[in-house]
Amino acid sequence: MAFNFTRADFPSDFQFGAATAAYQIEGTSFGRVGSSHWDTFAAVPGNVVNAEDGRVACDHYHRWGADLDLVRDGNFDVYRFSTMWPRVMPDGRTVSAEGLDFYDRLADGIVARGLSPSLTLYHWDMPSALADKGGWTNSDVGKWFADYTQAVIGRIGDRMDAVATINEPWCVAWLSHFLGGHAPGLRDVRAAARAMHHVLVAHARSMEVMRAAGQKNLGIVLNFEHSQAASDAPEDAVAARVYDGIYNRWFAGALSHGAYPEDILSALTPHMPEGFEDDMAAISGPIDWLGVNYYTRSLHQNVPGMAWPSERAVPGELPKTAQDWEIYPEGLYGVLMRLQRDFTGDLPIYVTENGMAGRDPGDRGAVDDPARVAYFDAHVGAVRRAIADGAPVKGYFAWSLLDNYEWAFGYDKRFGIVHVDYETQARTPKGSYRAFQKALARS
Ligand code: FCB
Repeated sequence: MAFNFTRADFPSDFQFGAATAAYQIEGTSFGRVGSSHWDTFAAVPGNVVNAEDGRVACDHYHRWGADLDLVRDGNFDVYRFSTMWPRVMPDGRTVSAEGLDFYDRLADGIVARGLSPSLTLYHWDMPSALADKGGWTNSDVGKWFADYTQAVIGRIGDRMDAVATINEPWCVAWLSHFLGGHAPGLRDVRAAARAMHHVLVAHARSMEVMRAAGQKNLGIVLNFEHSQAASDAPEDAVAARVYDGIYNRWFAGALSHGAYPEDILSALTPHMPEGFEDDMAAISGPIDWLGVNYYTRSLHQNVPGMAWPSERAVPGELPKTAQDWEIYPEGLYGVLMRLQRDFTGDLPIYVTENGMAGRDPGDRGAVDDPARVAYFDAHVGAVRRAIADGAPVKGYFAWSLLDNYEWAFGYDKRFGIVHVDYETQARTPKGSYRAFQKALARS
């Protein structure tokens, strides 16, 4: 199965990439990695499917060379990856030469293959030693993250073409401290409000360190959903608006306008860190690009009697992925157009993640994944339409290069364009990988 687009349908400087994240692929039992909050979260019954963790994952720590070959041979331009904080600093504060050596080899390997490296500094692996001190709820996290940034950039920054500070602040803060779905698994509005702010303070401190070091092309990666009301009832419209505020407008508003959306801030104010207003200027300091992760739309319903935000997501009627996420490419178009209109103007945008967990039997063993091919095709089509309508989108990266550790879903959900057999660690390109390879070939 082939895509309906090729590279030639995009501007000549448009970049296609494949993305991964350290905890999801490397294997924390290889090299000297400190404990992270994901290890301990996963150890609690009920948090992760089959109580699986990142100890072995895809053994990318040993197989990175062959994995980078796959990115190159798929004709991608960019490899988006992350560094693991507890590998670089096993105790959260002291730099490990062994950890940095690994990323040094990896950076060389990416460049040697003619790929453009796009680094994400934080993709969710908070060191336990810092989690012990409150992690994202502690206002010192900005300093901790700045020091970690310095360590990574000081060693591999010279080879990075793009750097993002943080992946998906909504997941780091809200999903992890209010909804309890990700590490550290808290369900506490005060912890959540603090994390919602500190994650952006950490972004700002990290930016300052990188600017001072002369590092170029810096951004942050936000996730967006196309959130809609589940019915025509006015109270469902309110529910969708609140969700949109927490998920989409909080971070985009703070970064673009230096202000949190009033409707959400008024509910969180009693729990916000004292003097948070003083940080807003730094938080809204210039970035060079914004990363957009998009997967689905979501439908929201008011829940009478429930504490704020008094809403819940309900299933919609569209076809769904194996994760029960609705497939809605129009939502990606909508998010890209809205960002330009309401938030980021002409700031370059990269779709840094998009993809799906497959239901195809091929996802279990063989390599046929027509549903994933159709998903990518439709979403890349949405990007093309957004560009035609003036949105400044400069790249599109597939999530993910490999089947990998899908957080609370363990190894059960497979997002890879390359199949991983977790018994043997054999990699087998799927149809979607072949489709990219063909569409992206330079003739
Ligand atoms: C995103 C994460 C990524 C992966 C995909 C499916 O929220 O950034 O690590 O889990 O979802």
